Amino acid sequence: MIVLGIETSCDETAAAIVTDAREIRANKVLSQLAEHAPYGGVVPEIAARSHLDHVDRLVREALAEAGAKLSDMDAIAVTGGPGLIGGVIVGAVTAKTLAQVLGKPLINVNHLEAHALTCRLTHDVAFPYLLLLVTGGHSQLVAVEGVGRYRVMGTTIDDAVGEAFDKTAKLLGLPYPGGPAVERAAKAGDASRFALPRPLLGKPGCDFSFSGLKTAVAQTVEGLGPAPSEQDVADVAAAFQATAAEALSRRTRNALETFASAFPRARTLVVAGGVAANGAIRNELAALAGEHGFDLVAPPPALCSDNAAMVAWAGLERMKLGLTDALDFKARPRWPLGEVRAT
Ligand code: KG4
Ligand code: ZN
Repeated sequence: MIVLGIETSCDETAAAIVTDAREIRANKVLSQLAEHAPYGGVVPEIAARSHLDHVDRLVREALAEAGAKLSDMDAIAVTGGPGLIGGVIVGAVTAKTLAQVLGKPLINVNHLEAHALTCRLTHDVAFPYLLLLVTGGHSQLVAVEGVGRYRVMGTTIDDAVGEAFDKTAKLLGLPYPGGPAVERAAKAGDASRFALPRPLLGKPGCDFSFSGLKTAVAQTVEGLGPAPSEQDVADVAAAFQATAAEALSRRTRNALETFASAFPRARTLVVAGGVAANGAIRNELAALAGEHGFDLVAPPPALCSDNAAMVAWAGLERMKLGLTDALDFKARPRWPLGEVRAT
């Protein structure tokens, strides 16, 4: 089976072609970074317009790279939510039109489900596994029991961790998107110079909170005066990153203990989403997994951040179970993973 995937839910226009033999035949991603950078964040109207301008070309380029024709596709998969609704609609209408004209099945993929299943495209991971999903909009711990069987064990009670990275970067005068910039700056920093509050320390459960940490970073930066030095910036970045990584690892430990007792034969901890590219976070999680006799699986950074290969793959996983969608499915701005079903 070979599937075309389309992704337009945030600020990447993407089209990819993937087979059920786990072969990525094409993976085209067009970042809108430069268009949003002047505003310090994604502007939904600009994103939707830009998806509209580029999605057809990306589909054509993906087909050319794969050496395939539209008529070779066994199905069209598309992110139907959650995301910025204007962009989601552009992708959904494109996919619906292709499916109708070609007479091929259509698969409406939840964007979070696509992140959650990517590890089965890149690695030979069996169900069940524990997933830490960390993106610009979500921080979740999920027991992934099968396709369409997602038990959300913890989520953020305020901001997502990616959002905290982006905000920290902005406060430090680092470029958008903040995650990679904070990680680079932190390399030259001393994490012990500033003591930041450790979110939910000593509290049971698997939920996250990052807004207090964000406020503490703002106060710390304010205390540095109007012109912080390069070393100041590096030290704040390092302190923030170490605190965030430690918080993620601490909450993941709680989830892992519950998960391991529910599924004694499970052996895999997966980290996915844009923030999973962070080396300090990966290191903490690898150590945690090791302590519990688990392996840490992290897809390569290019498949952790938004892309359409993960959408095509999730489409394949659903299609193998006979799960396709009607042409009139509704694009959704909000679509929690816990609401995705296998029937
Ligand atoms: O999954 P993703 O590409 O898009 C969403 O679905 O949100 O995640 C984007 C987020 C942004 O907040 C970005 O700053 C963060 O991932 N990010 C990182 C790193 N690379 C990207 N955060 C920390 N360290 C990184 N190296
Ligand atoms: Zn994403």
